[in-house]
Amino acid sequence: MSDIKSELTHKAEALEEIIYSYLPQVQGMQSTIFDAMDYSVKAGGKRLRPILMSETYRMFGGQDDVINPFLAAIEMIHTYSLVHDDLPAMDNDMLRRGKPTTHAKYGEAMAILAGDGLLNFAFETASTAFDKADVNLKHVARAFRTLSTKAGVYGMIGGQVVDVESEKTGQEITEEKLDFIYDLKTGALIEASMTIGAILAGACDAEIKEVEEVAKNIGLAFQIQDDILDIEGDEATLGKPIGSDEKNQKATYVSFAGMENSKKEVKKLTDQAVEKLHSLGRDDEFLTELMNYLVYRNN
Ligand code: IPE
Ligand code: IPE
Ligand code: MG
Ligand code: MG
Ligand code: MG
Repeated sequence: MSDIKSELTHKAEALEEIIYSYLPQVQGMQSTIFDAMDYSVKAGGKRLRPILMSETYRMFGGQDDVINPFLAAIEMIHTYSLVHDDLPAMDNDMLRRGKPTTHAKYGEAMAILAGDGLLNFAFETASTAFDKADVNLKHVARAFRTLSTKAGVYGMIGGQVVDVESEKTGQEITEEKLDFIYDLKTGALIEASMTIGAILAGACDAEIKEVEEVAKNIGLAFQIQDDILDIEGDEATLGKPIGSDEKNQKATYVSFAGMENSKKEVKKLTDQAVEKLHSLGRDDEFLTELMNYLVYRNN
């Protein structure tokens, strides 16, 4: 295993301990939903968004546990987005994170409810940051608002809407529309992750804006690579089905620009992100390594 890969595994494990500590107990009359939420979160995943959040927080000098509820919340929201994305009415996929999707295991109704449950519980969890001793309440409020906006209709959900509407239309998609979809459906939660890290560490407005730009590039590159892997990836390594986009006649960057151009674009967007990150003049060694690693990721 390369150094960065083992470092990422190590960081993901440490973050999982924090994330799991916030999950509700599987008990009570409604215990099925707790079980389905638990299953969906614990199925695995790279934990990329919490990693980006905690590393950005650290890069700006953050050292407190005020970040912890937000680390858990972003992964709950991301996981809920996957649970709903896999539903028959959306991408209709049966494998996620190497396991049966939530609807495959618990049925459609329970998967819808588990997704709703994770979304709500993410905000219940994030709100506990307000109760921590000696926190900067303005920072926590801004982080909370960022989480809400980037996950919502002006963020991830908005992107999913246009993604679904652009399926099976048989019309040539425009680059403008593709950019909109990618920036929102995937970019928004990555932007939330990195900017929340910066906000909670007390970065200034100009720095937060720069971080948002870096994250936007990384989000676009990440989704293009996801589309590449949907064609060229290996199901066992990826933990989700290959060919989902083709099955759904999805408009993707690869179908729009071709495979070679897509690979070049991932590299170009990442190079721009790395350069912008470096201009912040902080210790960006790990984040730079992570971003360069993501260009050639195979899962
Ligand atoms: C999958 O995200 C959905 C996209 C936005 C492409 P990840 O590739 O981060 O999924 P996990 O969390 O590792 O399972
Ligand atoms: C992910 O897009 C967008 C989400 C917000 C879930 P995809 O539909 O391409 O993600 P995967 O390939 O199913 O993980
Ligand atoms: Mg989808
Ligand atoms: Mg999908
Ligand atoms: Mg995909």
